[in-house]
Amino acid sequence: MNYKKLFLFLNILSISFVQAQEVRKSILLNKNWSFSKGDFKEASQIGFNDTKWQKVTIPHDWAIYGPFDENNDVQKVAITQNLEKEAKRQTGRTGGLPYMGVGWYRTSFNVPDFKKGQRISLVFDGAMSEAHVSVNGKEAIFWPYGYNSFHVDVSDFLTENGQNNLLAVRLENKEQSSRWYPGAGLYRNVHLVITNPVHVPVWGTYLTTPYVAKDYASVRLETKLENVPNKTEIRIETTILDQSGKTVATKNDKRKLNHGEPFVQNFIVNQPHLWFPENPTLYQAVSKIYSKDQLVDTYTTRFGIRDIKFIAEKGFFLNGKLRKFQGVCNHHDLGPLGAAVNVAALRRQLTLLKDMGCDAIRTSHNMPAPELVALCDEMGFMMMLEPFDEWDKAKCKNGYHRFFDEWAEKDMINMLHQYRNNASVILWSIGNEVPTQCSADGYKVAKFLQDICHREDPTRLVTCGMDQVSCVLENGFANMIDIPGFNYRVNRYEEGYAKLSQNMLLGSETTSTVSSRGIYKFPVEKKLDAKYDDHQSSSYDFEACSWSNLPDLDFAMSDDKEWTLGQFVWTGFDYLGEPSPYSINSWPNHSSMFGIIDLASIPKDRYYLYRSVWNKNAETLHILPHWNWEGKEGQIVPVFAYTNYPTAELFVNGKSYGKQTKNNATPENRYRLMWMDVKYEPGEIKVVAYDANGTKKTEKIIRTAGKAHHIELVADRTEMQADGKDLVYITVRIVDKDGNLCSNDQSLVNFSTSGAGNYKASANGDPTCLDLFHLPKMHLFNGQLTAIVQASEKAGKLTFEAKAKEVKSGKIVLEVK
Ligand code: GAL
Repeated sequence: MNYKKLFLFLNILSISFVQAQEVRKSILLNKNWSFSKGDFKEASQIGFNDTKWQKVTIPHDWAIYGPFDENNDVQKVAITQNLEKEAKRQTGRTGGLPYMGVGWYRTSFNVPDFKKGQRISLVFDGAMSEAHVSVNGKEAIFWPYGYNSFHVDVSDFLTENGQNNLLAVRLENKEQSSRWYPGAGLYRNVHLVITNPVHVPVWGTYLTTPYVAKDYASVRLETKLENVPNKTEIRIETTILDQSGKTVATKNDKRKLNHGEPFVQNFIVNQPHLWFPENPTLYQAVSKIYSKDQLVDTYTTRFGIRDIKFIAEKGFFLNGKLRKFQGVCNHHDLGPLGAAVNVAALRRQLTLLKDMGCDAIRTSHNMPAPELVALCDEMGFMMMLEPFDEWDKAKCKNGYHRFFDEWAEKDMINMLHQYRNNASVILWSIGNEVPTQCSADGYKVAKFLQDICHREDPTRLVTCGMDQVSCVLENGFANMIDIPGFNYRVNRYEEGYAKLSQNMLLGSETTSTVSSRGIYKFPVEKKLDAKYDDHQSSSYDFEACSWSNLPDLDFAMSDDKEWTLGQFVWTGFDYLGEPSPYSINSWPNHSSMFGIIDLASIPKDRYYLYRSVWNKNAETLHILPHWNWEGKEGQIVPVFAYTNYPTAELFVNGKSYGKQTKNNATPENRYRLMWMDVKYEPGEIKVVAYDANGTKKTEKIIRTAGKAHHIELVADRTEMQADGKDLVYITVRIVDKDGNLCSNDQSLVNFSTSGAGNYKASANGDPTCLDLFHLPKMHLFNGQLTAIVQASEKAGKLTFEAKAKEVKSGKIVLEVK
């Protein structure tokens, strides 16, 4: 979508919000919370004294401030999924951060213009975890799963006049409850929703497009209503607006509802603009609900019109066009911001992924933040939403299996109702590598979950990430999943395809190649589980874990076999926790190395390998490694180029090392150009790329850097919104006098800000670095790091400055509007 269009659309949204306010209000409860770690018997009670507690704004993650400690949540286990046989001390599995324990949040809220009889709900987008929510001293709801959204009608708990209501939330994270950093606290938003007695409940509409073609689409809207007195006539006037705000269909229907069924309306949209990642057009259905001719509620349902089909033998079709998922799996944390959700941070992630050519996201292995799904609708990413990493059998001692029997259906229903109107959501996944897949009765649990999806949303199919290929091919588990998804095991795809009745296969999780940005190991060899004294992995992209593989194999599978549906790479971004291959007794390591983009949100070399294959609209020519190898003169330093062109020639200080052309000798030779016998000499390397006709298309040069001279700052935007939330990511680099990156520089950089905003956090992408994200100083990792600044609520100029010893400092001024 172009930005003008998006702006117009958001404007329309806010106009309809103003209209909606007459009868329905939704208020964000994000300010004026008091927080304390620890347990307090009386903290849900009105008289409790919390004046000494910390004042916080939510979304808030209590654990991201550290400190890192290897003794935080040490798990002595054998990770069978990683093929481990003996229980060993796993360090950094959940990031070495103090997420465990009890924490309390308290605030007070008013219901503006409160009238007796109104229905008031609280909506939690997610609370980590085991949330006990009380209002005015009485428990309103308990919701154990930290990733799910939930809501509760609190009308009967309020004060007489609706003012000064105490809201208290007790959260508890048990140790050994996760395989990665889960975050802690009220890390997503909390909303207060005020409606009339007759109203549309939370997530109360279900919009589908039963027929989609070029000339017209049919749209079916089901609206649930609550508290409609018997025999009352209800009128709903719904207008469908296109992206420019133009009315494209409208209906004004009167009906008496029997047996509490939903109110159904059907529409025809002529010449619809279809939703697809490259042009994610959205519509909205704005409904006005009248009871006895009184306007009682308004409700807006945003949607897209698109047609999804999975065809056996042929693959996945969106709006009639074949495509293979070019997807990534992501965990929910935002690196140095922890789990606390932030729209600007999510948008930054998606912007980088879009440029790489990625078109799909798997929310591994849990429900996402609603803001992420909304952004995927707007920016054009197909989503696979996946609720669980565990069902009834444990992966972690205190994992979700404790709640599965009682809560799985409720958790599924919330996810399905919340996201079944979203255009971006293409597939539901019912789980990831659940141990249940190997038990004789495991298929029954899978069927139970799949049936819930079919019942609540018959328009989408269901997958499941399966890693125990032998089990699931034998015991019937894989055969009953709509879309079989294999995690890794590319070498068994053919067998899966031959044995399964679905005649297609999804790479539900692939690759798990490991690398550290800017680190290169010699000699350059393909290795599994390679470990080095510095606890890093090589960025030649030749290293994977024992269960995983290099990207090239998955590219080849997708290119060669028609029945493959594409893939979701593990992972788009590095995340906190799971520092494989340095997980056993390997402190300090606190974050993953699987990411295509590092924890500081700086692309690794691998980003350009994916870009060269996935982004068909842009030119890619990327060279690695850097060219600062003092002490290695005369020794072999291989040079790789990641490019969309088939051929390139390498020159070192003007001397040709010859042309390389992509070929079928090995999977790597198909997708990379590699000069393995280059001898290092300082100076410059140049790669010249040619198309298939031998025409020169582009060239790139990198040079040996001289002495560190100054700090260069590159901001991802120069303007920010004065909303107290917006973020700008600033890449901080130390360069020589000519601007060449000093790629071996690990200096400490100090930051300061002044004016209309503040320093928020920084990260360098080094999984072994224990610098705290929220302090205004950080070591460079191989010459680079990222500092994040946050806008204030007042407009003005925000100045950011970065200083390091012996180099000229850097300064940047951002406009906060
Ligand atoms: C998979 C698992 C992911 C992550 C990954 C690391 O088996 O589904 O959650 O652990 O391995 O390679």
